[in-house]
Amino acid sequence: MNNVTKTIIITGGAGFIGSHLVRLFVNKYPNYRIINLDKLTYAGNLANLKDIENANNYEFVKADIVDADSLFAIFDKYQPDGVIHLAAESHVDRSIANPNEFIFTNIVGTANLLNAARKTWGENMEGKRFYHVSTDEVYGSLGETGFFKETTAYDPRSPYSASKASSDHLVRAYGHTFGLPSVISNCSNNYGSYQFPEKLIPLFINNIKNNKALPVYGKGENIRDWLWVEDHARAIDKIYHEGKNGDTYNIGGHNEWTNIDLIRLMCKIMDSKLGRNKGESEKLITYVKDRAGHDLRYAIDSTKLQNELGWTPSLQFEEGLEKTIEWYLENEEWMKNVTSGDYQSYYEEQYINR
Ligand code: NAD
Ligand code: TYD
Repeated sequence: MNNVTKTIIITGGAGFIGSHLVRLFVNKYPNYRIINLDKLTYAGNLANLKDIENANNYEFVKADIVDADSLFAIFDKYQPDGVIHLAAESHVDRSIANPNEFIFTNIVGTANLLNAARKTWGENMEGKRFYHVSTDEVYGSLGETGFFKETTAYDPRSPYSASKASSDHLVRAYGHTFGLPSVISNCSNNYGSYQFPEKLIPLFINNIKNNKALPVYGKGENIRDWLWVEDHARAIDKIYHEGKNGDTYNIGGHNEWTNIDLIRLMCKIMDSKLGRNKGESEKLITYVKDRAGHDLRYAIDSTKLQNELGWTPSLQFEEGLEKTIEWYLENEEWMKNVTSGDYQSYYEEQYINR
């Protein structure tokens, strides 16, 4: 392609948030060359990017970030100006069942990317940027009050959040020690289209539709702070272009829900969309054994991002949730494809043989 002003490697671009980010960048920046580097694990799906797969500023490269040699070769070939790193193992329940995958991908994989960026950029790091996408779960669990700020001490409590915390520390250490121009954001729970149905919202939409039990962990009193995935992608765009090197930005929508209230709202919307009697879907709610080490509450203070970079969430939650439910109901084929094969054995291990 002609007139390339920047080449950016986005890792994990075939996953949930990554695919929304790749779409945003490919459409918004026709002069950027966007390289989507993804291993295509169970969570990665090129069907998430059908609409832009033929764009001439987009390229897909299949690679595993745990494989340092192939990363060096890819960085050597594309000479990226920037990296936006989202590739990760991302589901807490899987990290409890099998922590090692998280340690390899999230920690070793991030170190490999940092090394590849450092080697490629050498001493000339002007205009370069390594952006690490992280989670609010690194801060641990809140009680009934308070919010996570950028200065909150790290206190990860699951293998997933511990592996993300390690990767955040590595990124900061490479910035501090080697001067690698880096920035980190920590975001709250995302929801929207193309999310793999192991996470609460798409899992429950799919189960309600198929009249399957809704497995609520513990008493359903845990609280999460939900953000529309496209608002997260817009925040990443802002931070990538305007954030300060060495800084951290918290991203969240001030939108806290107990799981049970959120599930009841989903049931209500689904009753109306599916033409069911009021209260019918709620009958599927089943309380099951709690998740081990289940964090009680996450809530983000995103004042810094709002004040310094002028980002605000665009969607009210009720509207976003309804749009999300409509998307899953309209995209049956997508759901069918991602729930075939390995998904069935995961589901049995997680919910039937517990
Ligand atoms: P996801 O599980 O939907 O997608 C992860 C992607 O990474 C997949 O495409 C997968 O194929 C790829 N991947 C996994 N291992 C890889 C490897 N070894 N090499 C190359 N690619 C690999 O995850 P998501 O929900 O889109 O999350 C993306 C990032 O955002 C993660 O870093 C996650 O920690 C962070 N995050 C997620 C949320 C959320 O609510 N989902 C909130 C805050 C932060
Ligand atoms: P999840 O979507 O896995 O995100 P995270 O654990 O990273 O916040 O879960 C969101 C909340 O929903 C969390 O408190 C756990 C709960 N949950 C259930 O009650 N049942 C389920 O089957 C799942 C997957 C989650």
